[in-house]
Amino acid sequence: MSPKFIIPFPLLLLLFILYYVSSETAMAAPQIQLRPGFYSESCPSAESTVRRVIRRAMLKEPRSAASVMRLQFHDCFVNGCDASLLLDDTETMLGEKLSLSNINSLRSYEVIDEVKDELERLCPGVVSCADIIVMASRDAVSLSGGPTWEVKLGREDSLTASQEASDAVMPSPRANATFLINLFSRFNLSITDLVALSGSHSIGQGRCFSIVFRLYNQSGSGHPDPAIEPWFRRKLDRLCPKGGDGNVTGGLDATQVKFDNQYFRDLVRGRGFLNSDQSLFSGDARTREVVMRFSRDEKAFFEAFVEGMVRMGDLQSGKPGEIRRNCRVANADHQRLHNILFEA
Ligand code: HEM
Repeated sequence: MSPKFIIPFPLLLLLFILYYVSSETAMAAPQIQLRPGFYSESCPSAESTVRRVIRRAMLKEPRSAASVMRLQFHDCFVNGCDASLLLDDTETMLGEKLSLSNINSLRSYEVIDEVKDELERLCPGVVSCADIIVMASRDAVSLSGGPTWEVKLGREDSLTASQEASDAVMPSPRANATFLINLFSRFNLSITDLVALSGSHSIGQGRCFSIVFRLYNQSGSGHPDPAIEPWFRRKLDRLCPKGGDGNVTGGLDATQVKFDNQYFRDLVRGRGFLNSDQSLFSGDARTREVVMRFSRDEKAFFEAFVEGMVRMGDLQSGKPGEIRRNCRVANADHQRLHNILFEA
């Protein structure tokens, strides 16, 4: 008698599901292989051009370094690093520029436009807006006195954007450390990544709008956040009086144009600007330990920051993309507009 191999039905079903799920995922998410030097042949001056434009922008307005660097976070967390946040709204699409975290807050889009214009002149249709954001963020950090690093490139730009997706994921300044640990872990980012990346608040400014609740009514208590050191609270009270102008801004740390570990030294003294910042020291023992380490050791902060930026830059949506001609408009819409203007 020849032996018979009968696969039990539950096992057969499991094998079928595994095959189906893996082939579906493979189809839905073809990850692009990012690599350093991606433009070394197709556009050799890409990286030096980005750096030159960022340097020029910073000379005109020092804060633009922080504003440009923030774009990487707000891009990569919403369906991967695909420059979706640069798309303007269209008649059929609500983009990310007016989402809760971005409206009246994200800025320096025009600096990315300047980079793109120069690169389109040099190498038309080659360098993606998503890569420009990643290169510009690196340069903004290093030109502010922070570390530099090799960036992986080869991203494509999204065809669309989603205000809803941005609202669903971008954290509020009211967030606490425990919430942020969980949020970052959904992106495979560790507690050290979270604390190091928050160290980007070593440069730039925040609005009174983002902190008045913690000055006057923390968690609905009718009182200020007890974690704010009294001297610093008086300073913030003067900057942001109750009922005052929410658009007034203050430095996120005591040295707002220098990328250094002052941010962490401020947190240890109760001088964090945002609730989400101070909570990293005052709200959770796991993040506090890392804040203390970075406050003592700037080199350790820089190393962890670079690792975090590279890991965050790896986030991809797996959706089909393109190299946009204009960072604000998907190519199909660009073409449609062109036809209307020139063929009417
Ligand atoms: C951990 C969670 C984070 C929260 C809750 C958060 C929240 C905020 C808020 C509320 C502001 C001020 C916005 C305003 O008042 O208009 C801000 C500014 C800023 N954020 Fe974050 N952020 C976080 C993480 C990050 C990360 C990961 C980066 C970059 C790697 C980043 C970079 C910046 C920069 C550079 C500024 C200053 C921008 C400027 O001056 O224009 N932030 N952030």
